[in-house]
Amino acid sequence: MLDVTRIRQDFPILHRKVHDKPLVYLDNAATTQKPHQVIDALVNYYSRYNANIHRGIHALAEEATAAYEEVRARTAGFIHAPSPRSIVFTRNATEAINLVANAWGRFRLKPGDEICLSEMEHHSNLVPWQLLAKATGARLSFIGITDDGHLKLEEYAHKLTSKTKLVAVTQMSNVLGTINPIDRIITQAHQRGALVVIDAAQSAPQLRLDVQQLDCDFLAFSSHKMLGPTGVGILYAREELLESMEPFLGGGEMISDVQLESATWNEIPWKYEAGTPNIADTIAFGKALDYLERLGFPNIRAHEQELASYAIKRLQELEDVVVYGPRDVQDRGGVVSFNLNGLHPHDVGTVLDHEGVAIRAGHHCAKPLMRRLGVAATARASFYVYNTVEEVDRLIEAIHVAKAFFGKPSRVTV
Ligand SMILES: Cc1ncc(COP(=O)(O)O)c(C=O)c1O
Repeated sequence: MLDVTRIRQDFPILHRKVHDKPLVYLDNAATTQKPHQVIDALVNYYSRYNANIHRGIHALAEEATAAYEEVRARTAGFIHAPSPRSIVFTRNATEAINLVANAWGRFRLKPGDEICLSEMEHHSNLVPWQLLAKATGARLSFIGITDDGHLKLEEYAHKLTSKTKLVAVTQMSNVLGTINPIDRIITQAHQRGALVVIDAAQSAPQLRLDVQQLDCDFLAFSSHKMLGPTGVGILYAREELLESMEPFLGGGEMISDVQLESATWNEIPWKYEAGTPNIADTIAFGKALDYLERLGFPNIRAHEQELASYAIKRLQELEDVVVYGPRDVQDRGGVVSFNLNGLHPHDVGTVLDHEGVAIRAGHHCAKPLMRRLGVAATARASFYVYNTVEEVDRLIEAIHVAKAFFGKPSRVTV
């Protein structure tokens, strides 16, 4: 189990007050807080060895290059990628997915080809494929979801055809908390000859990932959702794909040689990292990985499940509450979306904020999913390694304050 009291001491922000109340931070699916080990790594880099990487021949540049490339190797180990060559650093998970859509999709898809997505995708794993479909004439197809927030897998089997060239699904929904059986999804896609992109933005912070065991072709996630800084995304791709794809962005670093009219490309993964990368934040991301590994993923997962199941139980004790997503915490991570009939989630969120409780309220960048659920928005509490059962109690107390404050106005509708 996690020693949460000990962990909390590492996070300076958790000791501040909001509206004169101790902060209860339950917006971790949006971004997590950072431990001092990560913050210190940023200060250390800028105070001791700030330099541009890969090009310098002075000591600072060599130190910075080594630290940056060590994190690439560390990241490869973290998801059990066969080599650091298959790890590309981007700005965020969104950019990683756009990289695949542009560098792979634009050159591989033709009119009539199909891209299979699900109805629970974040806009980041939806809009890039819409753009790609528009540019290439490919069609989008969607795996539906059941009322309790699972993918309709029998439907998926029928959606896969010889025309399906790509399947792009989330491993964990940022709204429903659902953890999808991506091993099955990947196997079935490969049987049809389609490649698979996994959106691991929500799952990488909570689950031990093994890209070789999963046998996925592409996997994307973000540092800032797992204790690391903002501005660092990770794309894992099979090496042969990275070798054969076209560059995404052009500029310095990604070339081998440049003539006035043409250029040749650097080796992978640098072929996909044009311009000066986010050196400091990537180095600090390495410290976030160290931190999570020290805690241990089975412990992190058990902690998330404990908080999610306690939150669901306490929410369901309230009158007029709707909790979305799977009932069984085996099938879900530490994200709990809910609505209080009669109260708009934004109103709930505003009152909670005044009680010091930070949650998310809105469409969570999943508007098609909101429509499927028949709502315009939900409130969402999401947990991480430093949250406690007592904080879930504070959430419930704050909801009581909101209910008392607003009484029972109109229902939330689309
Ligand atoms: C499931 C999912 N995919 C993708 C993203 C995009 O992550 P980023 O904004 O870091 O690119 C998010 C962010 O909330 C997410 O929850």
